[in-house]
Amino acid sequence: MAGSSSVPHKTSLPEGIRVGTVMRIRGVVPDKAGRFYVNLLCNEEGGDAALHFNPRLDESVVVFNTKEQGSWGKEERGRDFPFQRGQPFDVLLISTKEGFKAVVGDSELHNFHYRIQPEHVRVVEVGGDLQLESVKIF
Ligand code: GAL
Repeated sequence: MAGSSSVPHKTSLPEGIRVGTVMRIRGVVPDKAGRFYVNLLCNEEGGDAALHFNPRLDESVVVFNTKEQGSWGKEERGRDFPFQRGQPFDVLLISTKEGFKAVVGDSELHNFHYRIQPEHVRVVEVGGDLQLESVKIF
């Protein structure tokens, strides 16, 4: 997917993801953005999320969490806040042996240890307050 795209945007991953999979999400944070998200969902209907990656411009924090059986787990937070209203961003979510590593621009923001294994992921969903430019899976 390339060029500006409407959100929420879903990319299906019928084979799931594995250690070494890289998901690259590029976009622009709108001037009046509140929050946006990238969810790695375990099925097409939504439901469980192996990762909820949630930049919150209204709180200047990036929240990481899972959703299991409809309930949010324990939140983790990024070490800094590399997003700015009105600015472009480039997020890499990398599936490592231990977890989902989030890299924003040139720096590692957080390594979220797996609670749900990456092979269960079926959908990358991107939504909320952003101008989405591209979602690529390598
Ligand atoms: C909630 C919020 C959800 C989600 C969740 C993550 O407070 O309403 O959208 O971000 O936190 O823990």
